[in-house]
Amino acid sequence: MPLLNRRRSAAKRAREGREHRRRAPRRPRPRAQSGQPPIISVEDGTVVYPGGHVGLDRITLEIGRGEFAFVVGPTGCGKSTLIKMLIREIEPAAGRVQIAGKDINELDHNRTPYLRRRIGTVFQDFKLLPNRTVYDNVAYALQVIGEPRSQIRRKTPEILRLVGLQAKIHNYPDELSGGEQQRVAIARAFVNHPPLLLADEPTGNLDPITSIGIMQLLYRINRTGTTVLVVTHDRDMVDKMRRRVIALEEGRLVRDEDASGYHDESTREFAARMRAEMGVGDEGGTNGDH
Ligand SMILES: Nc1ncnc2c1ncn2[C@@H]1O[C@H](COP(=O)(O)OP(=O)(O)O)[C@@H](O)[C@H]1O
Ligand SMILES: [Mg+2]
Repeated sequence: MPLLNRRRSAAKRAREGREHRRRAPRRPRPRAQSGQPPIISVEDGTVVYPGGHVGLDRITLEIGRGEFAFVVGPTGCGKSTLIKMLIREIEPAAGRVQIAGKDINELDHNRTPYLRRRIGTVFQDFKLLPNRTVYDNVAYALQVIGEPRSQIRRKTPEILRLVGLQAKIHNYPDELSGGEQQRVAIARAFVNHPPLLLADEPTGNLDPITSIGIMQLLYRINRTGTTVLVVTHDRDMVDKMRRRVIALEEGRLVRDEDASGYHDESTREFAARMRAEMGVGDEGGTNGDH
């Protein structure tokens, strides 16, 4: 049982030295919508890397369906580790991770691809296939899950219109700006309309104005009902967006606040407010603003 022992001792290690720490303030649990379990539920999630480094230290959080939330904190605090734990790229040493009510670490390993089909992911470095066109990058995501060709031909241009890239459909990634490349990555992540979209520093390589456009797009996706969790260390953006903020420090959850007040904003109102608050002019925007 070496694996079990390792998991247990890791949890024990993770518990050591915690007693003196203050507990992170508890956030009221989001109301379950129509009796469904929350899309994300992590209970005492603990990740220990080989060598003993505690990447996440008993994280407990719940994210309801349809929420838009940020994860913030300094480099190395565990933000990417949290994302990886939610897609089962890393298994927790202790604790429980549930997606839509299912303990993902109890799934048979051959079910993991099905879990990931239901979670769109977006990264700082876009992760596009360089030798494929914009269209093929998005269509590929549908091909690998066995979508019929007729559906691919319908869905791919539709999602590229949503992200405002219909004119670049036959271009290659290196012919696009950073912001456009990130739009392709978002289109690819969202083309299946997953109930959950995770974005790890999606604006990390982008200038402030382009970043607002990307946030606007993520916000629009959120308004279709998809839960969106965005990792960022752009404090300015977070403060101004006034959404739920989960803060990590050295693997611990140190703050979880719902800065509400703007929940019913339209995508266009949101973009206008963001531009005004960040002191930037109008941006080209995307299609389908409402
Ligand atoms: N594969 C790994 N092996 C060992 N330590 C790691 C590994 N990946 C990340 N870490 C460590 O775990 C901590 C959290 O990393 P990470 O989640 O990537 O931080 P963030 O995304 O917040 O910058 C860091 O101290 C990092 O060095
Ligand atoms: Mg990271």
